[in-house]
Amino acid sequence: MSIQLEKVKELIQLREKARLGGGEKRIESQHKKGKFTARERIAMLLDEGSFEEFDMFVEHRSQNFGMDKTKFLGDGVVTGSGTIDGRLVYVFAQDFPVFGGSLSETMSLKICKVMDMAMKMGAPVIGINDSGGARIQEGVNALAGYAEIFQRNILASGVVPQISGIFGPSAGGAVYSPALTDFTLMTEGTSYMFLTGPKVVKSVTGEDVTQEQLGGASVHTTKSGVAHFSAATEEEGLALIRKLLSYIPQNNLEEAPLVENDDPINRLDDVLNEIIPDSPNKPYDMYEVIGAIADNGEFLEVHANYAKNIIVGFGRFNGRSVGIVANQPKSFAGVLDINASRKAARFVRFCDAFNIPILSLVDVPGFLPGTGQEYGGVIIHGAKLLYAYGEATVPKVTVTLRKSYGGAHIVMSCKQLRGDINYAWPSAEIAVMGADGAIEVLYGKDIEEAADDKQKAEVAAAKKKEYEDLFCNPYNAARYGYIDDVIEPRNTRFRVIRAFEQLRTKRVENPAKKHDNLPL
Ligand code: HXC
Repeated sequence: MSIQLEKVKELIQLREKARLGGGEKRIESQHKKGKFTARERIAMLLDEGSFEEFDMFVEHRSQNFGMDKTKFLGDGVVTGSGTIDGRLVYVFAQDFPVFGGSLSETMSLKICKVMDMAMKMGAPVIGINDSGGARIQEGVNALAGYAEIFQRNILASGVVPQISGIFGPSAGGAVYSPALTDFTLMTEGTSYMFLTGPKVVKSVTGEDVTQEQLGGASVHTTKSGVAHFSAATEEEGLALIRKLLSYIPQNNLEEAPLVENDDPINRLDDVLNEIIPDSPNKPYDMYEVIGAIADNGEFLEVHANYAKNIIVGFGRFNGRSVGIVANQPKSFAGVLDINASRKAARFVRFCDAFNIPILSLVDVPGFLPGTGQEYGGVIIHGAKLLYAYGEATVPKVTVTLRKSYGGAHIVMSCKQLRGDINYAWPSAEIAVMGADGAIEVLYGKDIEEAADDKQKAEVAAAKKKEYEDLFCNPYNAARYGYIDDVIEPRNTRFRVIRAFEQLRTKRVENPAKKHDNLPL
């Protein structure tokens, strides 16, 4: 065998060794937990055969605790580039079978390399986390490694999309990289995120909790809102990441991919002409409205199980990606509260950063009153949504279906917050507040002073009718030009598509500044 052939053979052997990661035994143990290895996950995520691996021969440099005698080619993370639906992405996947996926100095260098490449190329970064946190044997070098990653997350924010998959443990400061990215997905039953684990919790607060109760997927997708998506299996989670990317552009200078649309743009839906119940206190399901107007009724919901009183997610109109924000009358009457405001504000800012137009479907009775909300700072959190809409320069189309009262009316992309095209259905009620509340404030005394109950009821009914005739309709706002047109509900799909077509060349710039001071 020639010397060159021998060297080629050596390369092939080294590659095989690297591909085995932490070794067959540890891989088997990973599989037994119902988890895949980093390479298996990358293979499922990317287009077949598209993975181009970097740094397969990197080894850690630690000498402490006999670490110099235990090394694995590639260390505890697999990194590189590939394609999803033919579009370039950069990936890193922590490999639990190697030192529990714990983060070493060299692992951080590998991750930072793909993040830097993604920034240069203007391509999304997808990180799969499955790690015991900072590699304890490396001390401050591991901490420095995390900080290097966080710094890149911050600089990449709003430039290239960043998506985190949590497919195992993510503990301690390690949770901050996912928290800095745009979307986080967790697998159910096999992943958890927390700053301090159950043992520390017990010793500090005396509280007894399991890992699942403290930071499992159900906690973070329903209670904390830290995670946007959960998936029953890893395959499902990786497929969801692929789907999510189909709605998102490669970077902040591009537009989301145009998808061929076979759903007629002038499709009428008669159901919408009768969807609003006669009683203003009766709910209906906003998902039905979204399903009726989006291309083929398709909608990828974000944060589906958190703050259900507002719905956010991606749909398409004539093949173009649109971010949809909609009050949900079926959940707490669609009222805005702290969590709903935070959820929608984050989504609006993502859409604006990545040139995705926003459709707002409004049916909102106001902000939720009470000490719970006020003490929790609903003023600041509500201001986030107000700020997000007001600063957004992407095309904004608003359709008011029913209630649009008070501060919530302003917040939900009204005309003066630079809503570009604002439609209303004939059932819209745009006013400072609902009729009952208004009559109480304006005529409470008159009603009280009426001679008997019958007269009280008559005065109240007369005043209510006067208020409803004046304000509980879309025409008062339309008279001032705050509503551009009152549209037939069944025609909403066509009108929304035509509005976005008209807005395709929209160009608006905010004043130059170092950065804004969003009410955090
Ligand atoms: C070095 C680690 C490690 C770590 C796990 N391992 N975590 N090695 N540093 N942080 C190693 C284990 O020693 C073991 O090696 C192998 O990975 C698998 O771990 P097991 O414990 O056997 O697995 P499992 O039972 O599944 O438990 C997983 C685990 C547990 C829950 C993640 O390993 C664990 O609690 N790890 C420590 C978590 C932690 O406190 N990390 C530091 C957080 S603070 P062998 O050779 O036996 O197979 C932090 C600061 C970051 O991260 C700050 C950023 C700003």
